[in-house]
Amino acid sequence: MKISNKLQKWVDECAELCKPDQIHWCDGSEEEYEKIADMLIKKGAIKKLNESKRPNSYYAISDPTDVARVEDRTFICSKKQEDAGPTNNWKDPAEMKKILTGIYDGCMKGRTMYVIPYSMGPLGSKIAHIGIEITDSPYVVMNMKIMTRIGTKVLDVLGDGDFVPCLHSVGYPLTDGKEDVAWPCNKEKYIVQFPEERSIWSYGSGYGGNALLGKKCFALRIASAMARDQGWMAEHMLIVGITSPDGVKKYIAAAFPSACGKTNLAMLTPTIPGWKVETVGDDIAWMKFGDDGRLYAINPEYGFFGVAPGTSYETNGNAMKSMEKNSLFTNVALTDDGDVWWEGMTKEKPDHLTDWHGNDWTPESKDPSSHPNSRFTAPASQCPVIDKDWENPKGVPISAILFGGRRASIVPLVNEAFDWQYGTFLGSSVSSEMTAAAAGTLGKLRHDPFAMLPFCGYNMGDYFAHWLSIGKKSDAAKLPKIFYVNWFRKDENGKFIWPGYGDNIRVLKWVFERLGGSDNYEDRPYGRIPSKGALDISGLDLNDDDMEKLFAVTKEEGTAEVNELREYFKKFGDKLPAELTEELNKLEERYNKM
Ligand code: OXD
Ligand code: MN
Repeated sequence: MKISNKLQKWVDECAELCKPDQIHWCDGSEEEYEKIADMLIKKGAIKKLNESKRPNSYYAISDPTDVARVEDRTFICSKKQEDAGPTNNWKDPAEMKKILTGIYDGCMKGRTMYVIPYSMGPLGSKIAHIGIEITDSPYVVMNMKIMTRIGTKVLDVLGDGDFVPCLHSVGYPLTDGKEDVAWPCNKEKYIVQFPEERSIWSYGSGYGGNALLGKKCFALRIASAMARDQGWMAEHMLIVGITSPDGVKKYIAAAFPSACGKTNLAMLTPTIPGWKVETVGDDIAWMKFGDDGRLYAINPEYGFFGVAPGTSYETNGNAMKSMEKNSLFTNVALTDDGDVWWEGMTKEKPDHLTDWHGNDWTPESKDPSSHPNSRFTAPASQCPVIDKDWENPKGVPISAILFGGRRASIVPLVNEAFDWQYGTFLGSSVSSEMTAAAAGTLGKLRHDPFAMLPFCGYNMGDYFAHWLSIGKKSDAAKLPKIFYVNWFRKDENGKFIWPGYGDNIRVLKWVFERLGGSDNYEDRPYGRIPSKGALDISGLDLNDDDMEKLFAVTKEEGTAEVNELREYFKKFGDKLPAELTEELNKLEERYNKM
């Protein structure tokens, strides 16, 4: 194993601070993974699933207080507060380091400190970057092996190059003979990004985005700051390849807030004949300009960390197949024959389960068997529709970008931005009903610009400006076209109007046709929508009235949205780019003319 002086020095410093009993450098091998799994099984921290049902797969349940990302404990510690901006928690970096060095002192006593070299993106790709995560959670090591490319091969590529240092501790030292627990964590949590120093310190949680530091902390918060400085984009977006019946293929990226169906869209099974969807990524896109002036995207991840409830062979058969083996499940229910189950996995509920608290569960039970943010971790390579270019170091050329949120009213099924500037405005205007992916109030409508609210590592106003500047870096014809979608519109009885899931291909088909230059659109004040008959709804139980409801925005509703957004934009003060106010004014004028 080749370890640079810089890396060795940082690891030594962390060890000196955290005082683990031992240090283990992860080589990334299968044997290592198995050994760690066996050790956790012996400790009663995880279970092995029935080998004949789900080979080489494991099951974990977390502490009931450690089940989601903790946004109120997430900090962007830039030198100046204004560089974190109004949407992030901020603390002075020196002050934060002082707090952290205090709580990390001895935090790994009685434990092993694992050092995980990992690459975000195909090894050696110009778009990829390397991180080193230090963690005292073997469960995190197992997840990181599925979610990123880890081990000795990463160190070989790193040489003595730069890496993002990521220090993670569950904050549960085994001092004075303290017994370990199945899911160690700490009430006090800190998920801290230092964007200038490009480093991450995470303390107190073992769960998902709080602890798998390659994902939200690095690939979004730190990478967004790197991208701003270096002229590229780090986005909360899935990436898919779409092939039309006549064999033309285009790639699309799409940003949706957490738990709004990115994984489903990324692996969609089309319901109309001849169309094919292939997956490049389901959560994060890093995009850089190619020599031809087009934006090329890679998926920096290596696996899926998907929301389990609602996932079934009907709603997302490709996700179900991706996790048929070599997978890890957290906070779902356990069946009596040693497999997993969650709400929505099958129409018939099993007669008996062990729920995510470890208690007996029957269909009569009052509470769901699985936590609403329970997850599967599965290798992307196992996805039956993984794109042949998903590991192409050059990335795939992006022709369209979609934004979306979960909105029961007002936001239409689909509309196309008039140009990049208006598209940037649309991204900035995204709001969505909150889901269980973050601790907070379920269903509450909140602004989530570009689906990046919890993930932007710098001032969101500067992020808007960065988007506008990207639009000036290439010809309009080479830039992706921008669309805004909403699968979640409800009728007056509270029923979803649009069927969603595989039928979303119908919207993608219209998008695809627009990319090919088709003029099958009409203008509404808020953007371009499919002209009458242009959206393929053959075989769907939707009448003209439903179709109108999917696109209707009255003058009053539109104006109210404009006013609400104008109020929201005030938050950004003089960081709000004038172009966005201009687009807001133009939108208001268009509503006024209605
Ligand atoms: C995720 C999230 O886990 O966005 O992807 O919360
Ligand atoms: Mn996400």
